[in-house]
Amino acid sequence: MNQAIFTRLAETGRPRIAFTLDSRPVEALAGDTLLTAILTQAASVRESEFGDGPRAGLCLMGACQECWVMLDGHGPVRACTTPLEAGMAVRLRRRHAD
Ligand code: FES
Repeated sequence: MNQAIFTRLAETGRPRIAFTLDSRPVEALAGDTLLTAILTQAASVRESEFGDGPRAGLCLMGACQECWVMLDGHGPVRACTTPLEAGMAVRLRRRHAD
């Protein structure tokens, strides 16, 4: 997995929530969106289907389509508008592993 691009600077006392990211057990904090939870662990959420590189979200409000990830049992979701829940199994949409 590549390096995270979000660094948490505040609100670090919120309860920790466990989930998996490409089958790897990880943790984020209660109240995080899925995008925040992922980007505190990774540098991107998916590869562009047009072959022009990794994507890590853009609008952060559900409008741009740049943050789709696969959620086991649910299919594709926008990470920026999906609240993190304990036990989520997230698959990043990549052509090849980091
Ligand atoms: S970042 Fe734009 S839809 Fe999620």
